[in-house]
Amino acid sequence: MKYDVKDLGLSERGKLRIEWAEDNMPVLRFIRERFKEEKPLKGVQISCCLHVTTETANLMITLKSGGAEVALTASNPLSTQDDVAASLVDDYEIPVFAINGEDRETYYQHIDAALELHPQITMDDGADLVSIIHSQRENLVSGIIGGTEETTTGVIRLRSLEKASLLKFPLIAVNDSKTKHFFDNRYGTGQSTLDGILRATNQLLAGSTFVVCGYGWCGRGLATKAKGMGAKVIVTEVDPLKAIEATMDGFWVMPLEEAVAMGDIFVTLTGDINVIRREHFLKMKDGAIVANSGHFNVEIDLKGLEEISEGKKVVRDYVEEFRLESGRRINLLGQGRLINLVAAEGHPASVMDMSFANQALAAEYLKREAGNLEPKVYKIPAQIDSHIAELKLSSMGIRIDKLTPEQVEYLSSWQLGT
Ligand code: ADE
Repeated sequence: MKYDVKDLGLSERGKLRIEWAEDNMPVLRFIRERFKEEKPLKGVQISCCLHVTTETANLMITLKSGGAEVALTASNPLSTQDDVAASLVDDYEIPVFAINGEDRETYYQHIDAALELHPQITMDDGADLVSIIHSQRENLVSGIIGGTEETTTGVIRLRSLEKASLLKFPLIAVNDSKTKHFFDNRYGTGQSTLDGILRATNQLLAGSTFVVCGYGWCGRGLATKAKGMGAKVIVTEVDPLKAIEATMDGFWVMPLEEAVAMGDIFVTLTGDINVIRREHFLKMKDGAIVANSGHFNVEIDLKGLEEISEGKKVVRDYVEEFRLESGRRINLLGQGRLINLVAAEGHPASVMDMSFANQALAAEYLKREAGNLEPKVYKIPAQIDSHIAELKLSSMGIRIDKLTPEQVEYLSSWQLGT
């Protein structure tokens, strides 16, 4: 078996952590048990480009239990947990190509290595596999049934391909499932982003001014958690609707240009490029902390920051201090890469449980529907989404009410009024 990981000697620690996560992934465990019996993915090759974490390991084990042959590469050079990569290879015989801190060239070599599997299904977090297949490995297209995509940024890339009529196989936007973005993006990103910032800086949030750039599901989650920790939260937005929502949720809303002089901590979660730029850095307070929790490291203008800085030094793990001409210092966290996975461990297992249940069931759906889907971006069918919600609720020991026949009839009639 070919693989490329940092050190197989780390596998014992990795296995313990994978099992710890498994305890908090009851829905995925349930699916795994069924997969073991039914083998719905028998003989299917799946190339995966995901953050190499304990939760992802549990997804890989589930796909393999369903009969799939999988290969895993990282979806970010800094998010790989080397002990998990080692354990997947050593304990579970799953090929992994990922080393934390790998350079750009190695990152793309690893993607190529995972594609050597000649996948029938691709599983992406950020659309790198799909993008490479469409631009450099078109020979693989004929063998592909379809792919899945985990994150908002990836889905945006896929929709651009679809809009340009360039998409070559069907894709399931796992991100768009309700059981994914309502929970993973909001509660997962909210908590894990704070976790990353706190592990990197050990700052007290209470009383600080915390600026959240972007009020999508991730931004909402982060703003709410930061408020809960006692921070004064400012939201910046470009969408009028989201800006009203943020205001009515109790946050200050203003242009970033105004917020820069007030903020102690800034976090981008917009999915767009150059959100915090040199004109913003120049007006920030001495010691301001700047981090990104969006998928790619493009949201903070790193080149601009370098250009206006007289010097820089690493002052703690994950913290680089840039000294501006004015003498003021800006602290950049995690090289502007997604801070929740760089300085912390990503979203907790119990929320990834639903996200990865979606991934496993999306792969099964693609296999079942092979040949029936067009090269388009699809949502997972609503019944699968509801099924995951029911499984999660039941694993939490929560029961809910059922509509009475009379209520069902009322909801489907138009005659009954005042
Ligand atoms: N994305 C965010 N958190 C994650 C995690 N724990 N595992 C995999 N992908 C993630």
